[in-house]
Amino acid sequence: MNDKLVKEFRTPISEKKVLIGADAGYDQLIFALESSCDETACAIVKNGREVIANTVSTQIKTHELYGGVVPEVAAREHLTSIVPVIEKTFKDADISPNEITAFAATVGPGLIGSLLVGLNAAKTLALTWDKPFIGVNHLNAHVCANYIDSELEPPFIALLVSGGHTQIIKVESYTKQTIIGETIDDSAGEAYDKVARLMGLPYPGGATLDKIAPNGNKKAFIFPDAKVGEYEFSFSGLKTAVLRTVQKFKAENIEIPVADIAASFQERITKTLFKKTFKALQETGYKKVVLAGGVAANSEIRKKFFELESQGYEVHAPAMKYCTDNAAMIGASAYYLCNTFDDLNIEVFSRVACQ
Ligand code: KG4
Ligand code: ZN
Repeated sequence: MNDKLVKEFRTPISEKKVLIGADAGYDQLIFALESSCDETACAIVKNGREVIANTVSTQIKTHELYGGVVPEVAAREHLTSIVPVIEKTFKDADISPNEITAFAATVGPGLIGSLLVGLNAAKTLALTWDKPFIGVNHLNAHVCANYIDSELEPPFIALLVSGGHTQIIKVESYTKQTIIGETIDDSAGEAYDKVARLMGLPYPGGATLDKIAPNGNKKAFIFPDAKVGEYEFSFSGLKTAVLRTVQKFKAENIEIPVADIAASFQERITKTLFKKTFKALQETGYKKVVLAGGVAANSEIRKKFFELESQGYEVHAPAMKYCTDNAAMIGASAYYLCNTFDDLNIEVFSRVACQ
């Protein structure tokens, strides 16, 4: 190795001051990994908006057996899937690791064992190819999914509804996201999954309830709206109300009206999410609203929000494949939210947001 190469090799990546993001002034290819829960995902994203390749390997079939995600099982499945998923993504993109500008991975929130698989794979690639590494917050990334194949620009209000979180976020600029409201108990996705489970429907319940609801009467049951702060959410009372209704039918040996319950439950959740997000729009004066997270795939919620277009609002929601967990959103977030790279010592976190 010549002297220059030796010096280059010995310079810690963290000292190389590579600038990442929209202001850096050059084309960037971000390689991203996502493994925070039950999807092993990999993507290569150009300049935050253009997805060159996108691979998702889901574990749903495995966890269906248990009615929910089993953390230890999830981590083991990530270990099995991660290399094939990475290889497929490079092959689909027809890009070599050497052409990648930076390697990114989700650092949290999520399941620790699962996060470690993606994080360590991305760090290893960064070290091997001597490129910068970027740690990404999964929640920020869900919001950034809206930049993919779109011309969306801040400021806007985001409603993030996933399996683990429900938040209203004020997005003032690409790098400034402020949470203005969140759930005090269950998330919207959790409510969907629990309600589906107590009616005997398979995990994850959101998509199933969404499919069943149009066959039911949304006025059949009036489920309660929680009395919490104006930007707070609480869905555990709603879940209990559905449980009581189901128990009543069971006790009387009457067939559970699954479609009517699904429709009435979805109506309640949609109205609550809409009411609070609309309030945030009115208070900030923002004219743009975006949906994010797995529950943003819900047909009724999308319909309700897109109706705002007739009132002069700009409404955005990611394509279905970028609503639920994916790595393209991690690539978009790495580009837009970080203007430099992270130290390779960065660690995973399960709950606290690292904004
Ligand atoms: O964002 P995501 O993939 O994972 C987390 O970060 O949590 O969200 C998963 C959640 C699950 O609770 C799932 O039931 C819900 O999104 N979901 C839906 C729909 N598709 C997925 N909920 C309602 N309607 C849907 N169509
Ligand atoms: Zn997610």
